[in-house]
Amino acid sequence: MKLQGKVALVTGAGSGLGREIALAFAREGCAVGVNDIRAEPAAAVAREVAALGVAAAALPGDVADGRAVYKMFAAHIGTLRTLDILVNNAGTAFTEEHVKRNSEKMLEQLMTTGRSSMSLEATATMTDGHWRRSLAIHLDGTFYCTREALKIMEAQRRGCIINMASIAGLTGIAGAPDYSAAKAGILGFTKSVAREVIGAGIRVNAIAPGYVDTPLLDVLTPVMRQMIVAQTPAGRLGTPAEVAATAVFLASDDASYFVGQTLSPNGGLVI
Ligand SMILES: NC(=O)c1ccc[n+]([C@@H]2O[C@H](COP(=O)([O-])OP(=O)(O)OC[C@H]3O[C@@H](n4cnc5c(N)ncnc54)[C@H](O)[C@@H]3O)[C@@H](O)[C@H]2O)c1
Repeated sequence: MKLQGKVALVTGAGSGLGREIALAFAREGCAVGVNDIRAEPAAAVAREVAALGVAAAALPGDVADGRAVYKMFAAHIGTLRTLDILVNNAGTAFTEEHVKRNSEKMLEQLMTTGRSSMSLEATATMTDGHWRRSLAIHLDGTFYCTREALKIMEAQRRGCIINMASIAGLTGIAGAPDYSAAKAGILGFTKSVAREVIGAGIRVNAIAPGYVDTPLLDVLTPVMRQMIVAQTPAGRLGTPAEVAATAVFLASDDASYFVGQTLSPNGGLVI
């Protein structure tokens, strides 16, 4: 087992990639603190983790709230005693209806004429609230959790942090300026903190997945989904297990020389 005796905290682990990472870590012998903003899914995944024979704690809380994050780490330490691995995974994607409609129109234009003459009108119409909430969950949440984790990891002079970015942070995704900015910010944050703490024995890296089949993709219309699969050289969406395997690798000693790097399981969509 690659993570025998380790203790992890995975944010946004009530669904999708976070749930799969929590279960993959547990199968490798790692105890897991299961955070999610939704209490019931966090509790359900904590039960699934415990059923694999390792310790688990359900840690409900909003990662965008610094005070809630402080309390969540106190609850984690109260139950699981230490922290070796943090996965900053919590996230969301929200697309306004008119942006979805414009995306479909743009795809239609592209397919019939080979080029598009329109804007998706996502940025010009975005509310302050939409922008702030997106940045708060992804970027502030990653900062708040990393800050608390480093207080523990710097004292014990070991640890590993994995930040969930996205290909949106590598290339930008049209219609998602908030999400793309947050994910690019996470990559800059990863590189900076990786340089800062490697001397204290703490490795920080990022994963930037392509499109993976989770409830997050419910924001896509069927046509948008089809287009994404068509543009992906592998000819399909990724599976949560493929991203979880990347997280297990980065968390394990196999990745001991990976510092400030971004691994991108994306089916060839970005090369
Ligand atoms: N699915 C993809 O195609 C894809 C691609 C690239 C990156 N990602 C990233 O992977 C991460 C996980 O996404 P997913 O696909 O598993 O989505 P998902 O919707 O299945 O799971 C996300 C989980 O995060 C939780 N969450 C949302 N806001 C939260 C908050 N403020 N505090 C705590 N928990 C919160 C949700 O309740 C949910 O359980 C996200 O950061 C997402 O941006 C996903």
